[in-house]
Amino acid sequence: MMNCAVFASGQGSNFDILLQRKKAGDLHVNFVLMVGNNSSAGVFEKARKYGIEVLHCSPSHYLDEKEYCSSLIEKLEEKNVQLIVLAGYMKKLPAQLVHHFKEKIINIHPSLLPAFGGKGMYGSNVHKAVLDYGSKVTGVTVHFVDEEYDHGPVIIQEPVRVFDTDTCETLAARVLATEHAVYWKAVEAIACGHVRIQGRKVVVNA
Ligand code: GRF
Repeated sequence: MMNCAVFASGQGSNFDILLQRKKAGDLHVNFVLMVGNNSSAGVFEKARKYGIEVLHCSPSHYLDEKEYCSSLIEKLEEKNVQLIVLAGYMKKLPAQLVHHFKEKIINIHPSLLPAFGGKGMYGSNVHKAVLDYGSKVTGVTVHFVDEEYDHGPVIIQEPVRVFDTDTCETLAARVLATEHAVYWKAVEAIACGHVRIQGRKVVVNA
């Protein structure tokens, strides 16, 4: 089974669903490490509940980015990590790490990229921008990570309707529920070898 590390900074509801799907036998990967930059984040508790090793690691713990990056890569190599799953990770990954794990890092974003993505587009900022723009549809994107924010090849996108009555909170809740429905499927497709990257495009075989 593929060894996965999850990087997360927040409540970790996506990570929780991945762990639940694994427990239910739907997801065939090993979660070998959870990396987080914020030790008070709820996601640490979730990892511990499932007995997953955690690593509290922030750029501020190191002299410079090079040292931070080498130490992270060393840990990920030691755990034989084959796929890095970003699940609400709030730090931009250093380019060296992205190169080292080229096409082995995925992210989930709460909009239909390239709309409402990029620097500063996270959490409620995304849903507020969608509502302010008057979009009738938003959604979820799972994509490979490259050096640019919210930019790499798209693996799965799932639309979510925007209703006239929506607030940031109601829309965020519906989008998050959709994230929970799709992220594990993307991870499972990769783990089963059903995902191929051809240039900018991703082909997912059923
Ligand atoms: C999700 O909305 C995800 O799309 C974004 O960060 C959020 C993480 O939520 N990248 P959670 O911590 O998994 O609940």
